[in-house]
Amino acid sequence: MTTLLEVIDIRAGYGEADILNGLTLTLSDNEIAVIIGPNGAGKSTLMKAIFGLVSVHGGDIRFAGQVISGRRADQIAKLGLSYVPQERNVFASMTVHENLEMGAYLLRAGLRDHLSRVYDLFPQLQERRNQIAGTLSGGERQMLAMGRALMLDPRLLLLDEPTAALAPRYVAETFERIREIRSQGIGVLMVEQNARQALAVADRGIVLVMGQNRFEDSGPKLLANREIAEMYLGG
Ligand SMILES: Nc1ncnc2c1ncn2[C@@H]1O[C@H](COP(=O)(O)OP(=O)(O)OP(=O)(O)O)[C@@H](O)[C@H]1O
Ligand SMILES: [Mg+2]
Repeated sequence: MTTLLEVIDIRAGYGEADILNGLTLTLSDNEIAVIIGPNGAGKSTLMKAIFGLVSVHGGDIRFAGQVISGRRADQIAKLGLSYVPQERNVFASMTVHENLEMGAYLLRAGLRDHLSRVYDLFPQLQERRNQIAGTLSGGERQMLAMGRALMLDPRLLLLDEPTAALAPRYVAETFERIREIRSQGIGVLMVEQNARQALAVADRGIVLVMGQNRFEDSGPKLLANREIAEMYLGG
């Protein structure tokens, strides 16, 4: 395994105040890492900082050996990093198919290969390829958002709460798809509120509290830790 992502002691936030205060994490190739933590802890801010959407005031972020902190999001995307935000992650007035094509805007070649890979992974999207994205169910919409992010053939996928507000049936299916994505050689870093289910599939779990990584271990070990269960997993 080689190191894919390194976040080294970063400080980042909006304006003057830093939300992230000395956060450090490492992700290997082909790993699923899950970030859990209370509301407002800075989980989404971390995802945005990695993707170049929030200013990093201190520390470094490296992706595949290159420093990416300070670069623009489109430059970072070109290096093989895709990001699915927590909200507004599809173009609601475009069809499913148009959304996927838009996902590949930076791509020079291979559009058709990537489209068929995404449709293989999410057959529901193929069935609904001409449907307007704004009329999809919540679960279908999340799948479209992930599919769009995969259109760039990334090495690492950042997912901010991919199962938020989904029915239990879709939650399980989404985690299943995420495992399949990892088995295709893509690393996954995700923020999750369905913490127990997410940690069960995680090679690495990180508990983020007040802008710092407070605990870190394999997903199953964090699940088995009583202190963490009581404080962050609802007992
Ligand atoms: N655009 C912004 N401008 C100013 N402050 C912001 C902005 N976005 C988030 N914040 C603040 O940064 C802090 C961390 O927010 P963040 O969205 O990273 O939390 P989170 O851990 O993702 O929470 P949640 O679990 O509710 O999604 C919060 O106090 C929030 O109010
Ligand atoms: Mg958030």
